[in-house]
Amino acid sequence: MTDAQQRPLLVAGNWKMHGSRVMVAELLQDILAGLPEKPAFQVAVFPPFVYVPQVAETVADSPIRFGAQTLSEHDAGAYTGEISGAMLVDFNADMVLVGHSERRSLYGESDQQVADKFAAALRHGLKPVLCVGETLAEREAGQTNEVVARQINAVLDKVGIEAFGKGVIAYEPVWAIGTGKTASADQAQAVHAFIRSLLAAKSDTIARLLPILYGGSVKGGNAYDLFSMPDIDGGLIGGASLTGKDFLAICDQAQKVATGA
Ligand code: PGA
Repeated sequence: MTDAQQRPLLVAGNWKMHGSRVMVAELLQDILAGLPEKPAFQVAVFPPFVYVPQVAETVADSPIRFGAQTLSEHDAGAYTGEISGAMLVDFNADMVLVGHSERRSLYGESDQQVADKFAAALRHGLKPVLCVGETLAEREAGQTNEVVARQINAVLDKVGIEAFGKGVIAYEPVWAIGTGKTASADQAQAVHAFIRSLLAAKSDTIARLLPILYGGSVKGGNAYDLFSMPDIDGGLIGGASLTGKDFLAICDQAQKVATGA
């Protein structure tokens, strides 16, 4: 078995601040109806907090896993408006996004806070999906690897390499998010390989087993090329995760890549 075959592909939908009870019900119904009977890949959705209980109930006993789009770095206390890892686990969530670029840029989350959130997720038994990626200006200045390394090293310094054995990384170039501009499969692969080498310098085993997702305008039309790359282990999908048709088109490509069809 190659390393890539040991890392099952993950197709994860980040719904961001979209949805309603009706939309969540319909979307999940469509996804559940359209998934292959035996998916050879993993599926997860990240709804807004208030829909977590509805998702939990609807996907129980199905292959769909779920989590929230962020969590508090604290466990409990006087933190008005925040949601803790324990609360998410209370609703059977098993994953959580940390450090999405929108959290970093719009809500001022620092590398340090993201590291604290990663640690909080692990404390509660949640699988953190650490999002990293450069802006267009950083890419054009040739700083992509430097930025991604800084973002990952902040977390490594806090939790250590072994903790990455329980996590996932999502490489999401900021310039490709919601813009329709996808990184080419080669561009994404280069950064994924760099991320894996960064972790391999600390532990070869952890680096080989760590799933690294690509995010940024993934669609049915580009998913096959991206997911076929040796260091790309699936996708974190924003816009195309909001309709069953678009999300399933990506799942179909994941199934093809995973089964070699
Ligand atoms: P997008 O979003 O697929 O709409 O580009 C990806 C993300 O932000 O996770």
